[in-house]
Amino acid sequence: MESLLTKYNGGKMMVNSWHKLIFGDSRSMKEIEDETVHLMVTSPPYYNAPFDYPGLFMDYADFLHLLKALAKELHRVLAPGRVAAYVTDDMLVNGEKYPVVADITRIMIDAGFRYRDKIVWRKPEGYTRISRRSGVVLQHPYPMYFYPDNIQESILIFQKGKFDYNYLKQLNMNVKQSSRLDVGEYQGNKWYLTVWDITNVLPIPGRIEEGIAAFPEEIPYRLIKLFSFVGETVIDPFLGSGTTTKMARILGRNSYGYEIDVELMDIIKRKLNYDQITLAGDKIEFIVREDARKLRTWLKEKIAKQRSVVAKKANYSRKSNKEIASLRLLEARRRWLSDENNP
Ligand SMILES: C[S@@+](CC[C@H](N)C(=O)[O-])C[C@H]1O[C@@H](n2cnc3c(N)ncnc32)[C@H](O)[C@@H]1O
Repeated sequence: MESLLTKYNGGKMMVNSWHKLIFGDSRSMKEIEDETVHLMVTSPPYYNAPFDYPGLFMDYADFLHLLKALAKELHRVLAPGRVAAYVTDDMLVNGEKYPVVADITRIMIDAGFRYRDKIVWRKPEGYTRISRRSGVVLQHPYPMYFYPDNIQESILIFQKGKFDYNYLKQLNMNVKQSSRLDVGEYQGNKWYLTVWDITNVLPIPGRIEEGIAAFPEEIPYRLIKLFSFVGETVIDPFLGSGTTTKMARILGRNSYGYEIDVELMDIIKRKLNYDQITLAGDKIEFIVREDARKLRTWLKEKIAKQRSVVAKKANYSRKSNKEIASLRLLEARRRWLSDENNP
């Protein structure tokens, strides 16, 4: 805390933060010393999600191995009493539902964390990317055809032991004051509930986060404010487009970000307004390790192939309303069978 470059300005503390973005596999966080990180916020890759990460993992066991190795490394770098939050959900791939939420919970408990809370992130009902599995009931209005459309994800919160609240007594007054929560915002936006209504990042073509399955800024914004103090350090081991780093910087926290795909570097720079960061006095460092991979182009090609198949089958243009309705039912049935869901 003492070493922070801080200025106190009109009741607001301005913090010059630093951010280390490491391209490499987050199973190893060798750049980080033990117990020096104060919060993890992340969203792991959605297990082989058809429209984001098709075929990224050999199988589900391969995915769980990654999460186990990460949990161990996380336990090493997190300071005592601090929080690790995952934004994730069970995944449906080729008709199989994978219990990601239960498995991460077990993995984290086995790695020595306490299971603290689960928040349901509810997306708006009009969420355009969900699989309309429920439509099958319209075609077959009988028992056993029910499969609901998923509009939620889980925010899993774990803690490394218990937090010592004497910490607040020793805090610099400015740091404490700047970390104070806005109770109006907390109550007005219902942060106090186990259900958070937050609009997802819409899959608009050409958007900076296209194909990354980014979470909305509001999620790291809330978690960083609720579980870290100004000037502390946040980590995201699956950085994607850099949303966590962006919010950490805005909120005056330092950060580490790990991302295996070096092809995302330009997207992260754009999201962070990289040039302006340098001008503003914040420090940002990019490290490319030998274990970084080039994934974007490979994934994009696979995703484009899948999209063209779906588009061909669901080409609604130049069709009457009746034809469109029956195509929609067919599409719902097809999805019900193949489960192109996210997640
Ligand atoms: C769901 S995305 C994260 C999106 C991010 N929350 C955002 O808002 O942009 C998961 C990311 O993890 C990366 N990833 C997958 N395996 C990894 C590993 N072993 N180490 C580091 N990053 C990895 C993927 O390339 C992907 O960008």
